Amino acid sequence: MSKAFVIAVIDLIAAVCFILALRGLSGPKTARLGNQIGAGGMVVAVLAAFFVSGATNFPLMIGSIAVGTVLGVPAARRVPMTAMPQMVALFNGVGGGAAALVSIEEFRSRAAVDSLTFGVTLAVLLSAIIGCVSFAGSGITFAKLQELMSGRPFAPPWLRYVFGGLVAVLLVLVVVILATESVAALIVLALLALVFGVLFVLPVGGADVPIVISLLNAFTGLAVAASGAVLSNVLLIVAGTLVGASGTLLTQMMGRAMGRSIPSILFGAFKGSTAGSTEISKDVRPVKSGNAEDIAIMLAYSQKVTIVPGYGLAVAQGQHTVRELADLLASKGVDVSFAIHPVAGRMPGHMNVLLAEANVPYEKLREMDDINPEFPRTDVVLVIGANDVVNPAAKTDPGSPIYGMPILNVDEAKNIIFMKRSMRPGFAGIDNELLYNPKTTMLFGDAKDSLTKLISAVKAA
Ligand code: TAP
Repeated sequence: MSKAFVIAVIDLIAAVCFILALRGLSGPKTARLGNQIGAGGMVVAVLAAFFVSGATNFPLMIGSIAVGTVLGVPAARRVPMTAMPQMVALFNGVGGGAAALVSIEEFRSRAAVDSLTFGVTLAVLLSAIIGCVSFAGSGITFAKLQELMSGRPFAPPWLRYVFGGLVAVLLVLVVVILATESVAALIVLALLALVFGVLFVLPVGGADVPIVISLLNAFTGLAVAASGAVLSNVLLIVAGTLVGASGTLLTQMMGRAMGRSIPSILFGAFKGSTAGSTEISKDVRPVKSGNAEDIAIMLAYSQKVTIVPGYGLAVAQGQHTVRELADLLASKGVDVSFAIHPVAGRMPGHMNVLLAEANVPYEKLREMDDINPEFPRTDVVLVIGANDVVNPAAKTDPGSPIYGMPILNVDEAKNIIFMKRSMRPGFAGIDNELLYNPKTTMLFGDAKDSLTKLISAVKAA
């Protein structure tokens, strides 16, 4: 059996694992297995690197793997689920940067022995530009979500001219590098691509940052595929293309769920649209606030109760308690379901994962389009740590940064209970008129504490 044949077989096994992993990750029931299959495929792919002809730097390779493992495993284990988007941004950026570095080094070594072809140089340019944009852009998205910098869009009028100028210089450099095979010009191009990556993300507002993370994820996939073309490595091409394609689809789906087009997310701030502004409410209108006992009676005597979980439920880690309440109400004959908004929480599928952890039966989770028609027949809606995803401004206020985002129509229910700690706004930083609706009762406090009180009160009702 030739070495090339062994590598081809390993590549095939790893590629099949990646495809099966994506398939598994498309549903909550199979996601864990999908993740494991993907990790298995990655182990196989890393092993394949040791067989690649000409690979001699084994101590360096093992050392790099050790460093990556020591940094990556504890970081991934410790990160709270609410900080997952930042984590993804960081890992994704590192992937893009690595793809760019690999291509630049390959370019340098081939230029030294005069073995560059037009095709290889083109692939190097793609990998270097896209990888650097992804690296720098992901760094900015991390800083925005981690609140190391303001989440507000930064789009002064001069930025568009800098942007245009930078694109022009990059294009000139591409032509120069194709013509001269200059390593110095490639390094300048990579540095300018890093600046481009920063400027690319600065105009994006906080609420749209997760969509940009997904877009940059797709970019990293393309950069990796281009490095695969540089190195004639089939597995890198396959894996990169899979990441590029799935990242693009995820970006489109998230944009649709938030009612935003990708160009409006990237360039909207130049036109004055300010998604993700963080104005703090100065509204001093009175609101109706209730206690657990009154609300428990309302719940216990309802026929249909719908629970809307949001980011605050994840922060409070109230998933087990909410399940207990749902079970208790169901045992009293109440029809209970959970209404899941596609961008509730801070990452795609956040509420599904959170409730699955508490073993809430999957059939109790109802998607937005499915449950929206049922709100007029719903006696009580419990909005637990959610805000933006039920904010009617998305339907009624064209000036609102969330205007156009499809929402859960809880304003159509007979009674609305908001469980949150204060009148503070959600992620988009805007007031929610629903808090002042005559049908609304506020139950102030940490979501888990309030749920615990409700359970005791429902038992006593
Ligand atoms: P938000 O609109 O962010 O509202 C969460 C609410 O939870 C806040 O108003 C907060 O009010 C409350 N809260 C926080 N900690 C709490 C606790 N311990 N106990 C009780 N309440 C608590 O959440 P949402 O409705 O889930 O909407 C998600 C938002 O995040 C959308 O704007 C979406 O665009 C954005 N986003 C989504 C994603 C994805 S992909 N899912 C990623 C990033 C951003 P108090 O402070 O008054 O308690």
